Amino acid sequence: MPDIAIVPAPRELTVDEGQWVSADPAGEAIRDVVENLGETEYRIDVTADGARLSAGSEDALRHAESTYAQLLDAAEPAEDGMVAVPAVRIADAPRFAWRGMMLDVARHFMPKEFVLKVLDVLALHRLNTLHFHLTDDQGWRVEIAAYPRLTEIGAWRDETMVGKMSRGQKDFEYDGQRHGGFYTKDDLREIVAYAAERGITVVPEIDLPGHMQAAIAAYPELGNNPDTQLTVRQYWGISDDVLNVNDATVEFVRTVLREVLDIFPSPYIHLGGDECPSVQWAVSEEAQKRQAELGLTEPGQLQGWFTEQVASVLAEEGRRLVGWDEMVETDCPKDAVIMAWRSAQRGEIAVKAGHQTVMAPCESVYFDYYQGDPATEPLAIGNFIPLEKVYDFEVIPASLTEEEAALIVGTQCQIWTEYMPDEQQVGYMLLPRLSAFAERAWGSPRMSYDEFLTRLRPHLARIERIGVNYRPLD
Ligand code: ACM
Repeated sequence: MPDIAIVPAPRELTVDEGQWVSADPAGEAIRDVVENLGETEYRIDVTADGARLSAGSEDALRHAESTYAQLLDAAEPAEDGMVAVPAVRIADAPRFAWRGMMLDVARHFMPKEFVLKVLDVLALHRLNTLHFHLTDDQGWRVEIAAYPRLTEIGAWRDETMVGKMSRGQKDFEYDGQRHGGFYTKDDLREIVAYAAERGITVVPEIDLPGHMQAAIAAYPELGNNPDTQLTVRQYWGISDDVLNVNDATVEFVRTVLREVLDIFPSPYIHLGGDECPSVQWAVSEEAQKRQAELGLTEPGQLQGWFTEQVASVLAEEGRRLVGWDEMVETDCPKDAVIMAWRSAQRGEIAVKAGHQTVMAPCESVYFDYYQGDPATEPLAIGNFIPLEKVYDFEVIPASLTEEEAALIVGTQCQIWTEYMPDEQQVGYMLLPRLSAFAERAWGSPRMSYDEFLTRLRPHLARIERIGVNYRPLD
């Protein structure tokens, strides 16, 4: 019998050895939404009576169909244009509600057509969240009608540094190539609709109040030195140029967010919050005045105040704030969902502070890290996360109590694109690490790494059919 290669592996799979059932190769089968299954559960029964897919919701039925399509790969030709499928029973449901991937399209813009393919890859792996990192120092990628310069100016940089940036580096070699692009509102609505058809939520991120240099280049009045004309940043690292904390800037961001909410129906909206230096607030007269008025002792505390001001737009529309784990330290709203990126330990801290948390720790699921020997791999940001390490990832830190663990709503892998200039390189860094990640996000039974590789080899052909690049297995 050909191997049954389902990725991520279902929670329960029983094979009736030696039994084969005639099936339609196009995947026609009985499909039902039924009441006796939980909302996220599905079943597949391939018996002498044929194939039956049942699920507790339309979303779960989609998962059943995706799994059944993978099962059909194990089919053998039979008579009358039918195929023989191994007789199996599958009972399946995801372990986590948030099964995500973050795509940074700010450092390098990725065409809409590629984003749609990424959504196909997520659906193939029964992942359900695309976290879309739309803005950063190096580019602003979302059309905003009220502020056209955000894309006229902010979506483009004249050139980009070449090679690997080292800490503290000031002089760079540049490529002399203009780079940029942005998505129109129609593009984004198309992406959102394409995702929804596949059961995927697109969570937009407007990263603030740091990582905003592209916006400040477009509208200098947003910055702490409005008389200085900044460029859209042409090198990597963390910019000291962050938003000022004036009322007009709060209003500006609120207007931007209202337009973003109008495009993205997601119940979750990500407002960044990572890596926001406060050096400019410490010396800005206006920021110091605000700090004193608010009775704050440190300039860094202005970040919490600012985020709260702009996040009220989300509350008005019934949306939930999501932020990187720095937000826990900035007095953020208790109902904010925290994305733990600096370490798994940051996730523990977020959970202990009572926050629902998505585990996205850099030591396990940052796919901009090397996956092989840096001497022979394409340039990457550093560190080392080979495929096997992703397969071994455990989402819930062992030290948490059951009650604390219940606050972990899921997990997410990250594609930061400083060193990924195009879709070929994104595919190479993403896959097949995403396939291993999907097993942990879904809660597939832990089997040996070799067993995973046995399923992964034929699975790569599915990725090839979608047309996304991947790193061949060693
Ligand atoms: C991050 O990697 N700065 C969230």
